[in-house]
This record gives sequence, structure tokens and C-alpha cells, in this order.
Amino acid sequence: MADWWDADGRRHRKQFANAAAAREHEHRETALAHADRAAREMKLAARTSGVTSSGKKRSSAKADTGTIEPAKGKLGVMIPGMGAVATTFVAGVEAIRRGLAKPIGSLTQMGTVRLGKRTDGRSPKVKEFVPLAGLDDLVFTGWDIFEDNMYEAASNAGVLDYRLLEQLKPFLSSVKPRAAVFDHNYVKKIDGPNVKKGKTKMDLAEQLRDDIRDFRKTSGASRLVTMWCGSTESYIEPSAAHQSVKSFEKAMRENDELIAPSMIYAYASLMEGVPFANGAPNLTVDLPVMLELSRRNEAPICGKDFKTGQTLMKTVLAPAFKARLLGLSGWYSTNILGNRDGEVLDDPGSFKTKEESKLGVLEHILQPALYPELYGNMYHKVRINYYPPRGDNKEGWDNIDIFGWLGYPMQIKVDFLCRDSILAAPIVLDLVLFLDLAKRSSQLRGLGVQEWLSFYFKSPMTVPGLYPEHDLFIQSMKLKNTLRHLKGEDLITHLGLEYYD
Ligand SMILES: NC(=O)c1ccc[n+]([C@@H]2O[C@H](COP(=O)([O-])OP(=O)(O)OC[C@H]3O[C@@H](n4cnc5c(N)ncnc54)[C@H](O)[C@@H]3O)[C@@H](O)[C@H]2O)c1
Repeated sequence: MADWWDADGRRHRKQFANAAAAREHEHRETALAHADRAAREMKLAARTSGVTSSGKKRSSAKADTGTIEPAKGKLGVMIPGMGAVATTFVAGVEAIRRGLAKPIGSLTQMGTVRLGKRTDGRSPKVKEFVPLAGLDDLVFTGWDIFEDNMYEAASNAGVLDYRLLEQLKPFLSSVKPRAAVFDHNYVKKIDGPNVKKGKTKMDLAEQLRDDIRDFRKTSGASRLVTMWCGSTESYIEPSAAHQSVKSFEKAMRENDELIAPSMIYAYASLMEGVPFANGAPNLTVDLPVMLELSRRNEAPICGKDFKTGQTLMKTVLAPAFKARLLGLSGWYSTNILGNRDGEVLDDPGSFKTKEESKLGVLEHILQPALYPELYGNMYHKVRINYYPPRGDNKEGWDNIDIFGWLGYPMQIKVDFLCRDSILAAPIVLDLVLFLDLAKRSSQLRGLGVQEWLSFYFKSPMTVPGLYPEHDLFIQSMKLKNTLRHLKGEDLITHLGLEYYD
């Protein structure tokens, strides 16, 4: 018996004659996955460039970019998990609306997108280029196991300065948590009183659907988005119960333990036609049942796990090593953090979920099967240590052992003293606005997984059968090219031959 890893980084166990046979099998599978992916990308490129896959020019040179409905009315943001990230996001939006602060870190608010040639001088702001909801149109609700309103929860989280929170107090106090769907078995380190009761998981889903309808009515929102900012749940493998809507509903009625609370929120949202983004590493919407529901109800989905601190750095540095063909013998990453997220991750079950999400990154970027001499023997370790004195101000250390010309070793040390929720809040804002855009786009709303939003995730969801793109700059190009495509603009390839004409 030996293990092999497929192009998505999944481990398989199979009988092989020897280790070399296992490796050969892995290489062949990876090559097949790459070929499959290349064929899909060619088809997509043909669709967007007006050339058919057989190479013939389509009669109309302009790609069909579909239609985008205008962002009219209010956009309701529903957040399961009103902790540090959620409150930093909502308080931040209100502070920005009042002119008290700037939306630093948000692509939708501060970013631009280049259009046409470098010589054209056209670089509109993203929010002026595609029709996004304005910050003034956002309204909020949430669920939590604690009864604290957003002002109390933000004060407890200790991320934002109390002088800012005092100015926002009336607004933040008005956002009160609805009773949560929660089960201590999936998040071992916390428990709280504000929890729904129901005989079966299906009953609980029905109660969440009532909450969604109630919020739609009382807030007057014309559109809704759900954003999971709840704690990381224990590790669960996809199983038969998750394979179809039918099996999932049966499992909910039977209170199957493989149905975690976050999945019940996802089911309720998608049944109501509401897009769902997952900021934690739990499977949640990364399951066949959710893809089926998402497509059927035209409710876009994306995830998993916000890409904020250490992994952000990893997906910037690793592509540089690979681009320059520098080898990697080891990458040791450790963190100390003292917020509630850190406490939850102190439990081995929740840590395992996070670890899986963090570990896939290097394998996918460096492709050891393609570059065995450079990355075939790399050792990758990730640790998270709960250390209360630091609160939300995490410290992430990386020790990176690389090697260059003739195999000579070198080291890089990264010490990122970051603020977790300050990095996560603009991601939440962008995801809310882009998922709402996807829902209004005739081209995107029926796709299910919104892979163009990989930019924001540690463990990006993809179309089934594809391996994820982790390289931050590929992700950024993919996102901006999707926006260009939606607006019928030329995609930017950086070929640059046109400048020699
Ligand atoms: N901050 C970051 O940089 C970052 C990065 C990536 C992922 N994340 C993930 O985002 C999530 C939120 O992070 P945080 O720092 O705000 O954590 P937090 O502990 O401050 O907040 C999570 C909240 O979720 C609530 N909760 C747990 N289960 C729930 C349920 N079933 N229903 C409703 N509420 C529930 C908890 O009571 C808590 O208030 C975590 O899963 C974390 O791993 C955070």
C-alpha cells in the first residue's frame, strides 16, 4: 500500500508494486488533470475571444457577455457568527459611510482596472466600472450563540479603538444576533445560550429560512447575501450524505452527525436563492449538494477560508520561487494569536480543518510532480498556538529554506505582526459586493462556484475536477479579467506585441 496525491492535493491510498510505481501513477494522474484543465481553459478562451474550439472565427467578434441587472435598492448582508471579523467589517462600513475612516484593503472601493492598451490611459475604479451596491445601501443582520449586540461583541473582540466604537454605538447596538443553529460537538471550545431548538436538523433549517424571509421583509432589502464568519468547525470528510439534495435532506431529517451547523445555514440560504460565501475552512458549501442547489436556484457560492496573513504571504513568495526556479527544502510556519478564533483553533478537531486549508497552498503552487528536483522533497509544517496576551494581533513567523544554483542553500525569515480582523474585513466587504454582482449577472449566477473570487481564499473552491489557483497574481488577473469580460472589454494577456505595430 502507498499514498499518492492527485492534482487537487487529495491523498489516495492504493496498492503499488513499489514507491516508484506510486510516483509514476501520481505523475500520470497529474498530467491527465493538467491536460483536462488546459482543454477546459482553451474552450473558455474560445468562448470569450469569439473563436470556436476548432479554431474557426465566430461570426460576431464580440463575446456574449450577458446582462447585469442594476444594483437597485438595499443589499441585506446576513452573517452567521458575529465575532471579531464580522464586527470589524460592519463597524468599518459604518465608519466609512460617516467619513470617519477609509476602506483600505478593499479592491471594490479603492482598486482600479486597466482597460485596453497601456497607451490608452483607461483605468477606471472597479466600483465605477461594474455596477456594485453602494456602501449606503448595505443593511445587516446576524446570528450568534452569544446574545451580545454588535457594539458589545466589537468591544469584547478588542480589535477597534473604543473611541471609534463609541461614535458608532447607536448603530452597532441596533444589530442584534438572531438565535443560532449550533452544536457544541462541532466547535468544542465554546458554548452559548442563544441557540435555536428543533427536533431535527431540517426543523432548524426551516427556522433559518424563516429568519431570512423575516429579514428580507423587515429590512426592505431587494437582494441578500450570506457571509459565514462563524467559528471553524471540526474536520469532516465529504460523505454520501453530502452528494445530492435528496441524500442531504434525508440526512437532515435523520439528524446525521455529518451535517454540521454551517451546512444548515448554507442549505437555508441557497434554498432561499441567496448567495453564500464561506470565510472559514469548514466544507460548508464545498460539497456536491451545495453546488446542485446553487446552480438550481442561481445562488452563487464561494469559499473557503479568508486569505489574510501568513497564507497571503505564502501565495506571494512561493510563485516567486517557482518563477525563478529556486528550490524549496522546507517551510516552517508558526503563529501565535489570542482571540476567540485562536481559542477555537486550540481544539485538535478545528485545527485539523484549518491545517488542511493551509497546507494545500504550496503543493498547488509549486507542483512537485512537474519539478521533482526543486520541490519533490519539501517539508511543510504549519502550527497555530493560542496565546491570549496577543488578542487579535497575531504574529506569524515563517522560516523558509530555499536552494539556488548548484544546490547552495539560503534562508528567508518572515515575521508578520498583523491584525487578523483588520486584514479580513475588506475581504468580507469585497465578497459581499462581488457575490451580489454575480447574482445580478446573467453569465455568473447559474455557474455555482465563483472561481474568479479565489483571490480572497486560502483554499479556493473550483469547478469539480480542477485544481485551485493559489498564486495571488494569477488570482488577481482572473478576477479583473472576469470583470473585463462581463463588460465586453478585451481581456489583458500581457502579450504586448501590439505595441511594436
Ligand atoms: N480573521 C482572520 O484573519 C481570518 C482568516 C481566515 C479565516 N477566518 C475565519 O473566520 C471565522 C471568524 O473569525 P473571528 O476571528 O471573527 O472569530 P470569532 O471567534 O471572533 O467569531 C466567531 C463567532 O462565531 C460564533 N459562532 C460559532 N458557531 C456559530 C454558529 N453555528 N452560528 C452562529 N454563530 C456561531 C461564535 O460565537 C463567535 O462569536 C473563523 O472561522 C476564522 O477561522 C478568520
